[in-house]
Amino acid sequence: MATGPWRSVAITGASSGFGAALARELAAPGRVLHLSGRDATRLAGAAEACRAAGAEVREACFDVRDAAACEAWVAAAGPLALLIANAGVSAGSGGAVEPADQARDIFAVNLTGALNTALPALAAMRLQPPGPDGVRGRIAVVASVAAFVAAPGAPAYCASKAALQRWAEATDATARRGGVRLHALCPGYISTPMTAGNDFPMPGLMTPEDAARRALAGLARGKPRVAFPLPLYLAARLAGALPPRWLSVLPSKAQGSGPRPRREA
Ligand SMILES: NC(=O)c1ccc[n+]([C@@H]2O[C@H](COP(=O)([O-])OP(=O)(O)OC[C@H]3O[C@@H](n4cnc5c(N)ncnc54)[C@H](OP(=O)(O)O)[C@@H]3O)[C@@H](O)[C@H]2O)c1
Repeated sequence: MATGPWRSVAITGASSGFGAALARELAAPGRVLHLSGRDATRLAGAAEACRAAGAEVREACFDVRDAAACEAWVAAAGPLALLIANAGVSAGSGGAVEPADQARDIFAVNLTGALNTALPALAAMRLQPPGPDGVRGRIAVVASVAAFVAAPGAPAYCASKAALQRWAEATDATARRGGVRLHALCPGYISTPMTAGNDFPMPGLMTPEDAARRALAGLARGKPRVAFPLPLYLAARLAGALPPRWLSVLPSKAQGSGPRPRREA
């Protein structure tokens, strides 16, 4: 069995980047993978790679903003050892006030969209029998190191990831008493289509495979917060501790440059 003891795993945003790499890392004989995305062709490619590694794969195309579709997907999956709410979008403000529709959409996908699968999974997992690791089920939300800093170039992105990270960690404190664990995955920069157009330095840039392995190792150790790489995480925590007024005097580059959307880690 590949990383972790989990027999049945569901992943949103599995058609690309980090989600597809998580699926590939988990793919092994004896494991059932429920993979979702919106782009059917890309999702089929990701699913095929997992089948080639011996996993049983079930694909589903839907938008995580569709709460009913998310609930139906979780219900149809049956008992889940692990749900990874990974689907997300990113855009920057280009140094200006972020457009209203962009801010609303980022929150709808990254925050409400993650809750749309996490909440039904949490309810279902509480009724499941414990697995080999003594846990009834695990929910991992994909936040970011951006959760720890209010970057002026990406207000909605940072805020959506902060909310997700706080929700998962706070809920874990009580849900674990009933046998369900929640985890906040907080990666730094990963080389995926999301960051492909970034024109600024991305310290500690990881391959999707490296990021997936680190995330799954943290989950297997039961860490409520899985944040990596350490230097970037510590830098984000330090920046997040600065007085907020200092953010407005950051160099213009750090506030997002040009009209092209900026994409944060
Ligand atoms: N890349 C980084 O540096 C980095 C760092 C930290 C955290 N993250 C987080 O990691 C997650 C994956 O990002 P990535 O870098 O792998 O980006 P990506 O390659 O752009 O993949 C994003 C995934 O999310 C799915 N998705 C987007 N909007 C959706 C929606 N409304 N409904 C359903 N699925 C939707 C996409 O599906 P389709 O393509 O099929 O539409 C795709 O599978 C995101 O939550 C991101 O914020 C990324």
